[in-house]
Amino acid sequence: MKDLLRTADLSRADVDLLLDTAADFAKNPLRATDALAHRSVAIYMTKPSTRTRLASETAVAHLGGTPIFLRGDDLQLGRGETIADTARIISGFASALIVRTFAQADVNELGEYASIPVINALTDDDHPTQLLADWITIREVFGKDIAGRKFTYIGDGNNMAHAWLTMGAIMGAHVVVATPTGKFAPDSQAVAIATKIASTTGGKIEVLHDPEAAAQGASVLYTDVWMSMGDPESERSEKLKALSPFAVTEKLMALTEKDSIFMHCLPAHRGEEVEASVIDGAKSVIWREAFHRRTTIQAILYHLVRGELSGN
Ligand code: CP
Ligand code: NVA
Repeated sequence: MKDLLRTADLSRADVDLLLDTAADFAKNPLRATDALAHRSVAIYMTKPSTRTRLASETAVAHLGGTPIFLRGDDLQLGRGETIADTARIISGFASALIVRTFAQADVNELGEYASIPVINALTDDDHPTQLLADWITIREVFGKDIAGRKFTYIGDGNNMAHAWLTMGAIMGAHVVVATPTGKFAPDSQAVAIATKIASTTGGKIEVLHDPEAAAQGASVLYTDVWMSMGDPESERSEKLKALSPFAVTEKLMALTEKDSIFMHCLPAHRGEEVEASVIDGAKSVIWREAFHRRTTIQAILYHLVRGELSGN
């Protein structure tokens, strides 16, 4: 496996290796400062980022490398240079490329033409690096035995919903996504991919439209913003109205298991997708989850550059 383009690219063995290495990097961040010594990693983003950028730059630094941050309009790509030529040029200067943009197809094309590893740092369809931070957090809280547990995402059927289903399927988990019906439901293709993976791992995929049924007996309630980067502003009022029954409230949390946790990839909008008393309350693990963005991206870089992930 050269690139991490989609969550579905990862095998269960890859995830286990990445989470074990990330746990090591959490304890000893500087245990591999020679891994990228005298090498650079390009980080190209056409959308804003707080966590992923900080996590990526610090991960590269902890591996002894130099991050080169490139904003969307920094490159000639914005003036008509092709993705293929851009990929070839970056490959001559950097040892890996971390990319955040809109179209999944653009990330796939960068992967096709780059000779170095390309890592998806969020597209409109997926967010694989986030899910590794989420699952190391889940593992820290509940351990490796997740039998009988239910992992629920509530909210917009967006990139996070797709990634949640896919990673849950890889982990053999019972994953639930609860969204409005219609245009804010997850893409049927993403659900089909997760369902196919679950059929080989013993996982169970459920797409529901009833927030209370989804929360009932859950070990995790996860949510994300209702307006994602790139969502049309013209849809805002329709979208917020459709999503309002899916807000994570104390009332919803009360339906979950006694030892349940609340998760959110952040950024959050308190009073919109989640009540402040939930996200800032005792069950919330958001800070631990956010700080695992660095440990997990460090693990991805470490193993991808060494060619140690097998993929599906
Ligand atoms: N969770 C996440 O990807 O955050 P940023 O958009 O701040 O990178
Ligand atoms: N769904 C959100 C995730 C942000 C990390 C977005 O794409 O904006």
